[in-house]
Amino acid sequence: MRILILHGPNLNLLGKREPDVYGTLTLEEINAALRTLADELGCEVSFFQSNAEGALIDAIQAASGCCDGIVINPAAYTHTSIAIRDALAAVAIPFVEVHLSNIHRREDFRHKSLTAALAVGQICGFGLNSYLLGLRSIFTIAKKQ
Ligand code: DQA
Repeated sequence: MRILILHGPNLNLLGKREPDVYGTLTLEEINAALRTLADELGCEVSFFQSNAEGALIDAIQAASGCCDGIVINPAAYTHTSIAIRDALAAVAIPFVEVHLSNIHRREDFRHKSLTAALAVGQICGFGLNSYLLGLRSIFTIAKKQ
C-alpha cells in the first residue's frame, strides 16, 4: 500500500514560519515522523511539497493508479482552489485533509474548505498529530478497499 503525503504552499517554511501558530517542527521533521509511523503500519509513503497550485494538481493526477490514499494539507489553497478540489474529485483516491492549526478558530476566510466535503475527513488543530492521525486514518480506509 502506498500513501501520498501532499504539502501545500509555505509549508516548506515550517519551523520558522509563525511558530506560535504552526509550531517549531520543520517539514523534514514532520516527514520523518510520518515515515516512522508508515514503517510501523507497514505502508509506503511518498512526500511532495509545492508552492504552486499546478504542481500540486500534477502530483494528485500522477497518484492515480499508484497510490491508495492521500494525506493532504492544501494550506492556503484549502480556501481558494477549485482546481485542487477538481483534481481530487477526478482521481477519486480516498484522502484526509489535515491542518496544523485549527482553521475554525482563526480568521473567517480560513473557516471554509473547498476540499473537505470530498475528504473522508478533516483533522485540524493538533500540529504534527494532525498528520499522524491523518496517516493512520487513511491507512485504515485504504486497507479495507
Ligand atoms: C494551514 C492553515 C491554512 O489556513 C494556512 O493557509 C496554511 C496552513 C494549517 O496547516 O494550519 O498555510 O493549512
